Amino acid sequence: MSINPGATETLKILFASSEIYPLIKTGGLADVAGSLPTALRSMGDDVRLIMPAYGDAVAKAGKLKLVAKLGLIGGSVTLLQGCMPDTGVPLWLVDTPTFFDRPGNPYLNADGKPWADNAERFALFARAVLTVAQNRSGLNWKPEIIHCNDWQTGLIPALLYRQSKRPATVFTIHNLAYQGLFPYETFISLHLPASLWSYEALEFHRQLAFIKGGLAFADQISAVSPNYANEIQTAEYGNGLDGLLKYRRNDLTGIINGIDTETWNPATDPNLSQPYDANSLQDKALNKTALQRLMQLPQDSQAMLIGSIGRLVHQKGIDLLLQALPRLIEMPVQLVILGSGDPHYEDALREWLIKHPQQISVKAGYDEALAHQIEAAADVFLMPSRFEPCGLNQMYSLRYGTLPVVRMTGGLADTVIDTTPESLSAGTATGFCFHETESQSMLSALSRAIELYQDKDTWRILQQRGMGQDFSWKQSAQQYRELYQGLLRKYF
Ligand code: ADP
Ligand code: GLC
Repeated sequence: MSINPGATETLKILFASSEIYPLIKTGGLADVAGSLPTALRSMGDDVRLIMPAYGDAVAKAGKLKLVAKLGLIGGSVTLLQGCMPDTGVPLWLVDTPTFFDRPGNPYLNADGKPWADNAERFALFARAVLTVAQNRSGLNWKPEIIHCNDWQTGLIPALLYRQSKRPATVFTIHNLAYQGLFPYETFISLHLPASLWSYEALEFHRQLAFIKGGLAFADQISAVSPNYANEIQTAEYGNGLDGLLKYRRNDLTGIINGIDTETWNPATDPNLSQPYDANSLQDKALNKTALQRLMQLPQDSQAMLIGSIGRLVHQKGIDLLLQALPRLIEMPVQLVILGSGDPHYEDALREWLIKHPQQISVKAGYDEALAHQIEAAADVFLMPSRFEPCGLNQMYSLRYGTLPVVRMTGGLADTVIDTTPESLSAGTATGFCFHETESQSMLSALSRAIELYQDKDTWRILQQRGMGQDFSWKQSAQQYRELYQGLLRKYF
């Protein structure tokens, strides 16, 4: 592969993801896959996206053209070619209707359980991506880099590893807790090369772990924040993979996610009843009133409105919030929670809503517009995560003048600066942080927020500081480019 070190040459990158906003989204991976490639393209790179052809995604993708038919181990596949809506980034959808044309969540069935054939689905996806990456699908395009994301793409680096004239592989860990684990029998039924069944390869405590394909075989691994890249090398955050990650530490780097600053811009956000910017923060209050009305809360401007949006799962520390609620409702606050996930969290939150409708409002489900409205309306945004590889909502919050209250972990620790006498006088404070995974610790951070909320001038200074920060992809996309270039120089 010819490469001119240091030059700003155009890189050819195939970006593989199991979700891409706005075609389909369950969490932050979709946001990243929807925005990082756009940033790379604006830097002159030839980046193309590849994703399974879920029915919902096909419906949103606009005009698609059938460009290839492939017979692969595990099934036949057709490749549909199109462009991402709005950004025009080229897109291939891997179409196998029996596997992907299912409504709803790409990984879970209507009962919230993983689809029984997830291993077969994402193994076939991996084989299709590999065929494109090796320019064997008749598309007349060969990437220099294949950028894989999370376990659904883990088999790609493993299957490519021993192939000649292959692209360099990058594997990004968005969440190490999701590993794509399946029984040994699945390893056999997928017809994976026997050599991949070992602890150095895909085997993980006698199970098949898709994610190990990325961790063991990618030329370069990245994690979605510098702090998370360090944390996952410890037993506390390593999910049993810390040994492997420590072993690969010279090939592991942390790059903080950027955000789509157009979609998340309070000055132009079409979802808001009243757009605003750092110089018209009084208009933010109108969004608070509008949300209180919408969510049937008293229109009280003095109550500190706490927003929370996210997947209702153990990771996000919803149990900390539930434990804190008896104390929290004694404070001058209102809470708006938007989330979906674990039914027992949904039920518990609903019970609180029934008991305290004057202070608590809950919307179960996924609602993109409401997510924007909460970011704009809330005074503070709560993220008591047990672990948080990067987290996007704290950055959306900072951009919307909504002060984040976060547990000091992963990307939250990299992006929010706690308000202390020192950080206040140094002019660096942007939010409120707590350390322990305990509701008491979270409550004391919230109490500090409530206290500062009375001091409107200081509050405004913090809001404006957060709003003035640059969370765009500019720097992080540049770091990915340098990582790609370094890899090509080193190995190819
Ligand atoms: P994760 O990827 O772990 O879920 P992130 O903070 O990286 O967490 O990203 C979550 C993304 O998904 C954000 O864009 C957030 O606004 C969005 N999101 C999560 N749950 C919901 C929901 N119920 N409705 C609307 N958007 C949601
Ligand atoms: C994951 C993580 C989240 C991160 C997102 C995008 O889902 O849980 O912290 O922001 O991926 O990288």
